[in-house]
Amino acid sequence: MKPTLSIVETLARGAGKILRECSGQNLKIEQKGEIDLVTEADHRSEAYLVSEIRQRFPTHRIITEESGELAGAQGQVWYIDPLDGTLNYAHGLPIYAVSIAYEENGCVLLGVVYDPERDECFSAESGRGAWLNGIRLEVTSAQDLEHSLLVTGFPYDIRTNPDNNLDHYAAFALRSYGVRRLGSAAIDLCYVAAGRLDGYWELRINSWDIAAGGLIAREAGATVTNVAGDPNPMNPPYSILATSPALHAQMLAVLNGDRRG
Ligand code: IPD
Ligand code: CA
Ligand code: CA
Repeated sequence: MKPTLSIVETLARGAGKILRECSGQNLKIEQKGEIDLVTEADHRSEAYLVSEIRQRFPTHRIITEESGELAGAQGQVWYIDPLDGTLNYAHGLPIYAVSIAYEENGCVLLGVVYDPERDECFSAESGRGAWLNGIRLEVTSAQDLEHSLLVTGFPYDIRTNPDNNLDHYAAFALRSYGVRRLGSAAIDLCYVAAGRLDGYWELRINSWDIAAGGLIAREAGATVTNVAGDPNPMNPPYSILATSPALHAQMLAVLNGDRRG
């Protein structure tokens, strides 16, 4: 059996319900790294998703944030982030989502990002389009960086790795209307898809952060590459640049050293 978009949406809504139920319950929070947390809600959401996918598609491979890689067929791969925006979630800041993508033979075919706080279900099917709660999505027609609202994120080793995006952040902050930092890569990509933001970039990200949102942005008309311009951001090392079409070349130039004010 092949997964359908409606099955993936059902799974994302199921995991979102778990996240809502757990929030405010004072569940255990662990420190994965200096500034990287994991909560009991991440684990519960992931356990639910893995068990649902395993029941329906027992031969498929699953790449998860918390349990790592679960063996299966190379050509049928799921990418799941059970809670994207853990730092927000653990602080009661209601900006987080569940992200699920299904890839076949190297192409992401289905993607769903569900924000349970706003009951917003972003979805896309390769070649068919992207939707928010069933309504078709389209990126903005922003033409120039100077009149654009951008978003980015920072890696968890920001304190120790000099390649920490602060230089790019400064360059874009000086050349755009502003740069937001929402704390959920999946939501960043969906907001570009929905035309709420004009462009998003992030360095050293993980496959499960961008698999679903990258498809949703592309299907909404965004130009999506990695920060070096590779048209497939699912090729490691993972990074992402997703923008309204006219902005892409301008943002790529800044990311690759154009610092003209
Ligand atoms: C993180 C968020 C954040 C991004 C980080 C991700 P997590 O995911 O998406 O916005 O900047 O790179 O790791 O840890 O909350 O699932
Ligand atoms: Ca994530
Ligand atoms: Ca996560």
